[in-house]
Amino acid sequence: MTEQSPGLSNLLTENRTFPPSDEFAAQANATAEWYQRGDADREAFWAEQAERLSWDTKWTQVLDWSNAPFAKWFVGGKLNVAYNCVDRHVEAGHGEQVAIHWVGEPGDTRDITYAQLKDEVSKAANALLSLGVTAGDRVAIQLQMIPEAIVAMLACARIGALHSVVFGGFSPTALRSRVDDAAAKVVITSDGQYRRGKAAPMKANVDQALDGAESVEKVIVVRRTGEDVPMSEGRDVWWHELVDAQSPEHKPEAFDSEHPLFILYTSGTTGKPKGILHTSGGYLTQTAYTHNVVFDHKPGKDVYWCTADIGWVTGHSYIVYGPLANRVTQVVYEGTPNTPHEGRHWEIIQNYKVSIYYTAPTLIRTFMKWGDDIPAKYDLSSLRVLGSVGEPINPEAWIWYREHIGAGKAPVVDTWWQTETGAIMISPLPGVTATKPGSAQTALPGISAIVVDDAGKEVPAGGGGYLVLDKPWPSMLRGIWGDDERFRETYWSRFADQGYYFAGDGAKYDNDGDIWLLGRVDDVMNVSGHRISTTEVESALVSHPTVAEAAVVGASDPTTGQGIVAFVILRGNAVDGGDAAVQELRNHVAKEIGPIAKPRQIMVVPELPKTRSGKIMRRLLRDVAENRQIGDVTTLADSSVMDLISAGLQSGK
Ligand code: WT7
Repeated sequence: MTEQSPGLSNLLTENRTFPPSDEFAAQANATAEWYQRGDADREAFWAEQAERLSWDTKWTQVLDWSNAPFAKWFVGGKLNVAYNCVDRHVEAGHGEQVAIHWVGEPGDTRDITYAQLKDEVSKAANALLSLGVTAGDRVAIQLQMIPEAIVAMLACARIGALHSVVFGGFSPTALRSRVDDAAAKVVITSDGQYRRGKAAPMKANVDQALDGAESVEKVIVVRRTGEDVPMSEGRDVWWHELVDAQSPEHKPEAFDSEHPLFILYTSGTTGKPKGILHTSGGYLTQTAYTHNVVFDHKPGKDVYWCTADIGWVTGHSYIVYGPLANRVTQVVYEGTPNTPHEGRHWEIIQNYKVSIYYTAPTLIRTFMKWGDDIPAKYDLSSLRVLGSVGEPINPEAWIWYREHIGAGKAPVVDTWWQTETGAIMISPLPGVTATKPGSAQTALPGISAIVVDDAGKEVPAGGGGYLVLDKPWPSMLRGIWGDDERFRETYWSRFADQGYYFAGDGAKYDNDGDIWLLGRVDDVMNVSGHRISTTEVESALVSHPTVAEAAVVGASDPTTGQGIVAFVILRGNAVDGGDAAVQELRNHVAKEIGPIAKPRQIMVVPELPKTRSGKIMRRLLRDVAENRQIGDVTTLADSSVMDLISAGLQSGK
């Protein structure tokens, strides 16, 4: 059964509700009636949502589920995703509307209109074509939050090439495995990036990653920090030399609704990340629809800001595709929230009159820690909708967000979804739902999500179990790149009899039937809203010459949701397990995977608790990591192990 993190149990006793104001409800994009329409005829509902887009050829069938779990949505339809995100707004007379208010970390800014974005994307598309990139090819992108990142993604979409964006904080090893898995032909990166007021290298990491990478023909380098970077003759080209020289004319070709749009790697329960594959028509339909109804977005009026990085799915769906399809005016900020001061976000909201703000619980808790007086210094009265994503939001953080950022009246929408779902699945509607702190509440109109027990039977109100998606949805993943078997196995085998998608999250219904998410039920950790597998960190640890064995758990953490805690057995008795050794191991993990995977704590232990079949009992290690009384040890092969571990830790070894 679901192993519930004790920190989350308090969520379930929350019973305050916050209905929308009459004024908000009266102007909202979606009304309560949408739920009935979504239920009454799901396909008709989605066909209506697909009309938000411009199609070159209309579809002949809404959904083809005959080859489940491989879905086809809007069968026979053709469209160009980039045209939908850019050109059509210019054609409709909105060329002068700002698409992106970009704010660089050092304080430099750029405003980019839709007309300018169209030129930039067209030039970048021509640039890729000039390098021999064609529809179906893969382009890896490792860039920080600069406009070129968005332009590069849209340029790929425009010519039908798949992008594979790799988070800027990932190590060369992590980048290389993604480049190889997708056999990327081109890599786009920058010379360096600003991070906490300092320039950090980017191209140098990419060079290290690509040493001997056979698929890569060209590397395009955006100049950002201006530091010297070696350019490899015949392989590397500067963005400003290549792209700026291109024509701004490019005729977008219409691609099939199921033409692949991108691959995005995410951690699973094994060490090897999965390349989640998304396609065009259904993905754009659901990202545009959800961005419109969940954030109540009004094109030309709202100023929207999603604080995610394009390296994660939130950046793909809620910075690039959904918002731009909806003719958003949005803020894109390059840097960290406390550079040069802890009021940076509030200052940006004040300056640009941001009205919709979408961020993660971990950041909200960080803001709380920095103090109420910081946001209080700024005029945040433009804010009218606040969103949360990435992990369960605790009621304290939810209430603080509403009170201190939303002036006690902006609705807070807690949005549950995943890289695999492509778009928001469970969330309140801000003009309809009486929101509850800590609960994502109900599936959106057109979507179905239920909580089931071990046997796949829906649990009654008040009951808990696993979250499943029991009906296909337009932005669902179409597979794992190059691994159909793993796709079936990971998501569709657990409840194969029922044909349900297994999300990997524990969940519970409250007495009103609202859904509360309880965290992962597999060996996946959620650190600051980032998904990291315990196995990945364990492999990184054992790749260090001093480590004999390692076990990793996610322990609840007041700021990051979960923190990574590692237990290691060192090789040979002579090895010293002191501070320096531990520090060295933490850095080793950061080097192998990226700084986001650096363990919060590493405990050197003489033994690991294992069952008789040799499986590590992470539950007991979590008890240690969370300073709890150690639970049931009867299935341990050697019951004295936990005493050894506890004794070792108490003596400070
Ligand atoms: C996992 C997906 C969705 C974009 C960011 C993360 C957790 C996500 C919530 C939420 C409770 C949440 C789940 C999910 N999660 N949003 N609102 N409430 N849990 O995407 O890296 O694919 O991770 O994040 O555990 O399975 P991801």
